[in-house]
Amino acid sequence: MTREIRFILNGEEVSITCDPLKRLLDVLREDFDLFGTKEACGEGECGACSVLKDGKIITTCMVPMGAVQGCEIMTIEGLRETLRGKTIIEAFADGGAVQCGFCIPGMVIAAESLLASNPQPTDDDIRLGISGNLCRCTGYDLIVESVKLAAKRGKGLW
Ligand code: FES
Ligand code: FES
Repeated sequence: MTREIRFILNGEEVSITCDPLKRLLDVLREDFDLFGTKEACGEGECGACSVLKDGKIITTCMVPMGAVQGCEIMTIEGLRETLRGKTIIEAFADGGAVQCGFCIPGMVIAAESLLASNPQPTDDDIRLGISGNLCRCTGYDLIVESVKLAAKRGKGLW
């Protein structure tokens, strides 16, 4: 059984006819060629597949398309076109937080979600804010420092 699902994707109205149980992660990658949203665990545990849904961070491997009807989805491809997204991404690059890069789209989404609710977070706030996102490469110190750098450079953006 398929159903038409309409939603806003990175600022544009889109629609797709698919099984409402198809995962948002698969729709983003297979139907919209948005490969910045990664799959690692596939079980909601690692954050690699994070996007913003109506401004809140979600793991797309756990979200069926039926739950996306009428929602606003922002992926890393949309976020990177915004000043806020650019500020976070540049801070991650300058702060040395990126090694293999696989976790970074999800980390940037988590950083945006955190800064939107807490523009000047403490180290503990940042560690809590990214606690749903796993990095297998860097350890977390450089990521925490990079989020702090983004908050400092982006004062007034959030
Ligand atoms: S792939 Fe979705 S949380 Fe890990
Ligand atoms: S930079 Fe490689 S998993 Fe985080």
